[in-house]
Amino acid sequence: MRSVVVGYDVVGYDTDELRTKKLNAAESFIDDVTSEDLQSAVETGRYHASSQGRSCAGFDVAIVTVPTPLTEGRPDLSFIEAASRTLARYVRPGALVVLESTTYPGTTEEFVVPMLEEGSGLIAGEDFFVGYSPERIDPGNRVWTLTNTPKVVSGINPASLEQVDRFYRTLVDRTVRVSGTHEAELTKLLENTFRHVNIALVNELAVFAAELDIDVWEAIDAAASKPFGFMPFHPGPGVGGHCLPIDPSYLSWRVRRRVGKSFRFVELANDINEHMPDYVVRRLIDALNRDGKALRGARVLLLGMAYKRNTGDAREAPSAAVAKHLLSYGAEVRAVDPHVLDSDVMSGLALVDATPEEIASAEAVVLLTDHDAFDLDVVTTHARYVLDTRHILEGDHVEYL
Ligand SMILES: NC(=O)c1ccc[n+]([C@@H]2O[C@H](COP(=O)([O-])OP(=O)(O)OC[C@H]3O[C@@H](n4cnc5c(N)ncnc54)[C@H](O)[C@@H]3O)[C@@H](O)[C@H]2O)c1
Repeated sequence: MRSVVVGYDVVGYDTDELRTKKLNAAESFIDDVTSEDLQSAVETGRYHASSQGRSCAGFDVAIVTVPTPLTEGRPDLSFIEAASRTLARYVRPGALVVLESTTYPGTTEEFVVPMLEEGSGLIAGEDFFVGYSPERIDPGNRVWTLTNTPKVVSGINPASLEQVDRFYRTLVDRTVRVSGTHEAELTKLLENTFRHVNIALVNELAVFAAELDIDVWEAIDAAASKPFGFMPFHPGPGVGGHCLPIDPSYLSWRVRRRVGKSFRFVELANDINEHMPDYVVRRLIDALNRDGKALRGARVLLLGMAYKRNTGDAREAPSAAVAKHLLSYGAEVRAVDPHVLDSDVMSGLALVDATPEEIASAEAVVLLTDHDAFDLDVVTTHARYVLDTRHILEGDHVEYL
């Protein structure tokens, strides 16, 4: 693990005691970090996790990566507040605090800095340093890792920027300096809003293309042959995870709050992407109807409950919304996901293995996540009908989104 090579003494402070126990026992619960890597870090004696706030005492650098969810549709900064108040007690002259959580522009300067100053009695930018550097981890991506993905860095003043940049240059191959924390905060929201909006574009296109009887997937592939000015995005059952369904709303909330206007692109993209699970179910109803069958009482097998391929992250996954709709129609729903834990799947939904018998006994199979672990041949050989929302299967009885 790279952190072992760099040689910092690292404390992983997390309020979740269960997580800290697992970390200290070298049991990784993060897809991209193996238990072996964790073990080698623990064995150095220079890394340990703790759920005690006092474990932060004496820190030189603190990186804050706490959740930033939406609560009742609004940015919820309570985790950032709690972490800042804990850190404030231990800020010493010369210390550096960097926020990495995704949040709206202004959070670092207007929200975090006052709490750190109040709790420490020190002046930010003079006595200690503060910056913002967005996380760019792409779970499951084996090519672009923490080390080789350029890291955007910022500080509340030039002295802070210098400290932030110097720290991250020990960890990553390249840093990208921006002039202030607002720009760095906006950078992250721009990246995620860009994906969110483009996915919404192809999702809406997929809905209309199906009505027009045009193969949208082929059109996207053909457009991607253009070597400039086009970047392919693909339709799917909706967006999930902790970023796309949430982050753009942080931006639109801030715009409405500060400028009093609606960020229409974000609103529209939210609307389209949120309706994709309904559309998947509607397509399934149409398919069964063509065969004179009802969804009520039909057994439906869902392949993939994670929001993203080859990960076990089921947070905000559109597959849960698909399952919920199907259950509300009276379908008998089962699901397969080799990466997702039973405890992360909604109640009322049975997780099963994708055996030939399980596939054959379903009236319809819906492929929602394109995990490499799925045996596609077994699916196409045994399924009676498949709605493939990821365009990875082939066969007469396979339909695409
Ligand atoms: N995971 C990613 O791939 C990713 C990528 C880009 C950005 N982000 C952003 O990073 C942030 C964290 O995301 P995540 O997926 O790692 O969340 P997570 O929920 O998996 O982990 C956050 C951890 O913070 C802990 N925590 C909560 N309050 C705390 C406190 N006061 N002090 C110490 N620990 C506390 C939680 O117990 C949890 O273990 C979010 O803002 C997210 O948008 C995550």
